[in-house]
Amino acid sequence: MARKYKSETKAPIIIRPQQGKQEMFLRSPADICIYGGAAGGGKTYALLLECLRHIERKNFEAVIFRQSRPQILSAGGLYATSQEIYPYLDATSVLTPNVQWRFPSGAKVTFAHMFYEKEKYNWMGSQIPLLMFDELTHFTESQFFYLFSRNRSTCGVKPYIRATCNPDGESWVAKFIEWWLDPETGYADESRCGKIRYFVRRNNIIHWADSPEQLYEEFGLYTTEEMSEVKSVAFISAKLTDNNALLKHDPGYIGALKAMSEFDQEQLLNGNWKIRRSAGHYFKRAKAQMLTAVPTDVTKWVRAWDLAATAPGEDDDNEGLPQAMKRNTRNDDSAYTAGVLLGKRRNGRVFVADVINVRENGADVRQLILNTAASDNALYGNVTVRLPQDPGQAGKDQAQSFVRMLGGYTVTTALESGDKVTRAEPFSSQWLAGNVDVKVAEWNDDYFRQLENFPVGKLKDMVDASANAYLELENGKPEFGYSFSY
Ligand SMILES: Nc1ncnc2c1ncn2[C@@H]1O[C@H](COP(=O)(O)OP(=O)(O)O)[C@@H](O)[C@H]1O
Ligand SMILES: [Mg+2]
Repeated sequence: MARKYKSETKAPIIIRPQQGKQEMFLRSPADICIYGGAAGGGKTYALLLECLRHIERKNFEAVIFRQSRPQILSAGGLYATSQEIYPYLDATSVLTPNVQWRFPSGAKVTFAHMFYEKEKYNWMGSQIPLLMFDELTHFTESQFFYLFSRNRSTCGVKPYIRATCNPDGESWVAKFIEWWLDPETGYADESRCGKIRYFVRRNNIIHWADSPEQLYEEFGLYTTEEMSEVKSVAFISAKLTDNNALLKHDPGYIGALKAMSEFDQEQLLNGNWKIRRSAGHYFKRAKAQMLTAVPTDVTKWVRAWDLAATAPGEDDDNEGLPQAMKRNTRNDDSAYTAGVLLGKRRNGRVFVADVINVRENGADVRQLILNTAASDNALYGNVTVRLPQDPGQAGKDQAQSFVRMLGGYTVTTALESGDKVTRAEPFSSQWLAGNVDVKVAEWNDDYFRQLENFPVGKLKDMVDASANAYLELENGKPEFGYSFSY
């Protein structure tokens, strides 16, 4: 490098990737490279190193996304780790509006947060040559692919994506990197580590191949522009033992990981993507009958909603854990709004026609419920909308305002009694008896994954909405629409 950094004038400080997986990650030529596995493997540090490749380009900008701002700023988080590196390259940082490092050439590295689904639109019109996600499993698939479409560049760097994550068998990422995992054990298949595969995404479905040519042929891609739709992906597995720097510096780290539950140890220490708390007792994918068309004998329709609860705040229920082990579970739990449309067929079978599952809240959810009521009624005839009512006056007021908003539609609101498992039992019995039909659709995988994890998975919104829709199908009066009035 031509520039003389201040650090070079004093005793030399050497900043470099560690041999092994970190080097492999930094060498990958893939358009998307995901570095995933054990906590403390050196994943976040590797993202920060990757940015250094371009800091002599004055128009260069890398954006590293993390789910929330507190996570960026917390002890041991992204910002703290970057302070171990960037000041030695004469970079200075600002904290607002986003945390940003500015290098002497003009190059920038920004740490941004993105929680709600719609926050992805804040990046409309922006060009991000190097797009990064720290803890990719905390983002939705659609946030990822939306930003992927923003991944353009005018600064001379071919756009690319780098991401890190801890294993999470419930996440869309588990499916995305399935090829690199051992299907039996759920550990990374070391013989595939770093190998490149190719995909094309059409109508939200990902089509994989071993070579780009296979996809050019399969999808008739001839022009350079068409061929550029094919993207390459590599997955690199991280192990704690790859990170000698940490083991030397903080020998207690492994001990802290070993003190966790077996489930957490499997994920965070051993890097297992398949580990489940015992699940699958309530719903099994194989018991559902898949239908490609909507049956014509449905006599009653219900769309039930499970609403996102609180807005995200500081995540403080992981206090005392090393940073890499902190997880934002509480925020995740309450963040999703799900709407499930069930139909009762004349032959007694239950039909799952549509599943909506989004990370939205407030006004967006109200609009979504209203729009869905309109489209459901247009598509299927009279569809009852069932909404949960929280206990207390506030819950009553909210329910009433929903009923008003949905004037003209059949609406019921119900106080949710009993716990989630008890409420899911009637639907679960139908499911396990083989009485449930499911429409073939892009949401199938996410839906089945959540159902099969129930009741131990951290996300239950789709299960809850399904359970409530089923209760309404069974208890509601089939012949007449009815509305609650207060
Ligand atoms: N190449 C490296 N050189 C020096 N220290 C490193 C290096 N890689 C990782 N570390 C140290 O290990 C710590 C944990 O790494 P980190 O990237 O945060 O792990 P992960 O994101 O996989 O949980 C870092 O804070 C840093 O101190
Ligand atoms: Mg990390």
